[in-house]
Amino acid sequence: MPWILACDSAQLQVGTMRRLELADEEIALYHLADGFFATSDTCTHARASLSEGSLRDCIVECPLHGGQFDARTGKAVKFPCVTALQTFATREKDGAVWVEIE
Ligand code: FES
Repeated sequence: MPWILACDSAQLQVGTMRRLELADEEIALYHLADGFFATSDTCTHARASLSEGSLRDCIVECPLHGGQFDARTGKAVKFPCVTALQTFATREKDGAVWVEIE
């Protein structure tokens, strides 16, 4: 599966996230204390952009209705979100972050 360059590692501080369009996928890329993680950026409850919400530790909160997901696993952890987000593998190499898009 192709690995796509997402950004320079230094562009995303720990505790922050950003929205990216990679290979026609809308991705939320998170820099957590234990590394980089990526999920679909679109909330599974409706069509809100999670990267416009808030991030606390590993939990991303949707800006529209306050549902929450674990950014590491994509698992929905707070109602009204019940369906997991799609997740994408990431890796950091030579100061850059890569995301695997199938
Ligand atoms: S659209 Fe995300 S919680 Fe409703």
